[in-house]
Amino acid sequence: MKPINVGLIGIGTVGGGTWTVLKRNAEEITRRAGRPIRITAVADKNVELARQVTGGEARVTDDAFALVNDPEIDIIVELIGGYGVAKELVMQAIAAGKHVVTANKALLAVHGTEIFTAAQEKGVMVAFEAAVAGGIPIIKALREGLTANRIEWAAGIINGTTNFILSEMRDKGLSFADVLAEAQRLGYAEADPTFDIEGVDAAHKATLIASIAYGIPVQFDKAHVEGITKLEASDIKYAEQLGYRIKLLGIAKRREQGIELRVHPTLIPAKRLIANVEGAMNAVVVKGDAVGTTLYYGKGAGAEPTASAVIADLVDVTRLATADPEHRVPHLAFQPNAMSKLPILPMSEIETGNYLRLRVEDKAGVLADVTRILADHGISIDAMLQREPEEGEGETDIIILTHVCSESAALAAIAKVEALAAVKGQVKRIRLEELQ
Ligand code: HSE
Repeated sequence: MKPINVGLIGIGTVGGGTWTVLKRNAEEITRRAGRPIRITAVADKNVELARQVTGGEARVTDDAFALVNDPEIDIIVELIGGYGVAKELVMQAIAAGKHVVTANKALLAVHGTEIFTAAQEKGVMVAFEAAVAGGIPIIKALREGLTANRIEWAAGIINGTTNFILSEMRDKGLSFADVLAEAQRLGYAEADPTFDIEGVDAAHKATLIASIAYGIPVQFDKAHVEGITKLEASDIKYAEQLGYRIKLLGIAKRREQGIELRVHPTLIPAKRLIANVEGAMNAVVVKGDAVGTTLYYGKGAGAEPTASAVIADLVDVTRLATADPEHRVPHLAFQPNAMSKLPILPMSEIETGNYLRLRVEDKAGVLADVTRILADHGISIDAMLQREPEEGEGETDIIILTHVCSESAALAAIAKVEALAAVKGQVKRIRLEELQ
């Protein structure tokens, strides 16, 4: 049977894994796809590396544009990342009538509307399973497996670097800075880890999850993005004492007035399965109205786990390449003419529980003043912990967990609490989700 021809752009970690797995499992993949999937050309700046990996079995070039304009190539796999050249390559490939498979979450989260519209007009597919949670088939699950459901919420540990750092901070009681330095030394964290530790990478992925869960356009610019750089080991310890773990979650939640789309450190009950996802692993919980709560777990990065997702997309595209475009699964799960106008809610309108850590003078009436302020703002207390002060210390930490309240009520109450003379410095606040 006539093979489908693939042009691979970028043969680094994921590209190399894609080459290896496609070759190793060629027979089974062909039986599934219905015809052989063959990488006929590879473009990489490092031509020597491309030659080594492909061993003369594919044409090698340093000119990626030669691939997107090659009439012999049916599918372009874009694995170089970023918004610049990658966007030009993807747009040119679409214009040339080629299907695209990409792992580029940043590109799709920011320019997805333009890219999907162009693909729709041209009748080609843009597949992106590898863009979210690496090897976990979360796009497939949301877009197809859960298609009967109204998705209530999805919450995921979708950045392995930060989950590794949080696990180490908890296990070893170390500071964020110490663990980051160690992770970089061991090669677990990038030399420039900004996108990971500031929550940007997770927000790119959460943006894509929200779009396919609710059929809304990709709107990374409206996502709330908060990383883990300000987390302190003491908060991880106090959370633990109260039966919670702190995870960097990407959350997409449907509310009547709109969609919550946010990434931030979050206390979650230690007894939830997702709270026990440790190290660089990823996991996503999705709550559908019919199915209830479902959990997807696996490796969110790495050569072969990510290649697994890239090749799944290649098989999907191969099976549907000759189908009428209207009979394919829509890019964002909902038909393009049936997209929702539900807005992304501003943070002032979101609702969560809260962890509050206060440094206070150890004297009569302080706690009464604090709880009065919370009550005045309609905030109900769920649990409380007070550290016993050291001999002669005169100050202590009070930890309060609140029931769900609005962000604006929480911020107003915190400002009032910080203004109390007996409260020292700022209140440390971390949002809390029960994930029920
Ligand atoms: N840098 C990401 C992570 C993997 O740490 O999970 C690629 O998205």
